[in-house]
Amino acid sequence: MTEKVAIYPGTFDPLTNGHLSIISRALKIFDKVIVAILNNPQKVPLFSLDERMSMMQEVIKGKQNIEIDSFDGLLVDYVVKKKTNVIVRGIRALSDFEFEFQMALMNRKLNRDVQSIFLMTDYKWFYISSTIIKEAAGLGGDISGLVPPLVCRKLKEKYGY
Ligand code: PNS
Repeated sequence: MTEKVAIYPGTFDPLTNGHLSIISRALKIFDKVIVAILNNPQKVPLFSLDERMSMMQEVIKGKQNIEIDSFDGLLVDYVVKKKTNVIVRGIRALSDFEFEFQMALMNRKLNRDVQSIFLMTDYKWFYISSTIIKEAAGLGGDISGLVPPLVCRKLKEKYGY
């Protein structure tokens, strides 16, 4: 039987417990999950691609069936290059729906073989996003429990406290 592989793409700037929850839930459906971190030269992330990759590697260390990779260009082309046809995305509130729906339809237009699958986030992570984590951490807020301890430390280093 062939291995069922899903691509979980994102910016992961930085990764949150919400992302980790989607990875572990995707692993209950797929044999392997490839976490594909976007390298977008047009956007200036808080964490460089190397930092985002190494934080993710460190946090998932020892966990089976997860590969960490980066990509640029079209997501559907990357999916094909990885010899699969499934994109997994997490969905939180209605506010996510519009963007996710638009992206899924565009990806479908670009490649009809590629299927987008949405996993609903755990209620505990319903209100968190990388953006809101950065905003709170940047203003000195306590974001422990919402991101892995390593990410908490790295955010404090970035914001100099
Ligand atoms: O974590 P994010 O920022 O919500 O992830 C967005 C991501 C990386 C999935 C999206 O920006 C993407 O797929 N970018 C690659 C470029 C692409 O394929 N664009 C066309 C389809 S919308």
